[in-house]
Amino acid sequence: MSLFDYLDVEDALLVEAWIQEVETEKYPLRKSLKEKARERFNDIKLKELGCGKKRIVFDLDNGWVLKIAIAFNGINNNQREVEMYQSAPPRLQKRLAKIKEFGHGWLVMQRITKPVPKKKGIKAEIKKIIKQFERSGIIPGDLISPKRRIRWPNIRLRKGRIVVIDYGNFKWK
Ligand SMILES: Nc1ncnc2c1ncn2[C@@H]1O[C@H](COP(=O)(O)OP(=O)(O)O)[C@@H](O)[C@H]1O
Ligand SMILES: [Mg+2]
Repeated sequence: MSLFDYLDVEDALLVEAWIQEVETEKYPLRKSLKEKARERFNDIKLKELGCGKKRIVFDLDNGWVLKIAIAFNGINNNQREVEMYQSAPPRLQKRLAKIKEFGHGWLVMQRITKPVPKKKGIKAEIKKIIKQFERSGIIPGDLISPKRRIRWPNIRLRKGRIVVIDYGNFKWK
């Protein structure tokens, strides 16, 4: 499978050219990567759902999203996300947004839009999930900041259950 299965020729070429550039620019640029990515994808026929420090995410409008690296590290993050999804034990894989397809610098992930409500008891639930990962030998990077704050943008709710949509920094111990 390739990008051409998901996008029209014009958009697919745009994304491919972009990833090639990201690949070679290993050093921080003067303009923020986010700004640069948004400028480049100005005419793409997809709606942006979000952008982090390493990836920009577009709606494929069919229940799936396209996650594209915007930083050199983003390419690694995408790859790690794929590997983590494939190697996670089933009990924990249920906590990760599905990935159905990937290529160099991009991946196709299940679209999950419902935010996790910041209600009572939810932090305890998230901490429980973190422990589950840790007990299985996985360090769930980016779920919690160094100051022990929950990184809300990286988690969502699917059928009432908490699911991680950004696990590009999860690592096997
Ligand atoms: N599976 C998804 N469904 C819906 N929106 C998503 C999904 N994955 C990411 N996003 C949106 O895109 C943003 C950036 O994606 P993320 O994977 O967190 O990239 P980064 O590694 O740069 O933080 C997220 O904060 C979220 O708003
Ligand atoms: Mg993120």
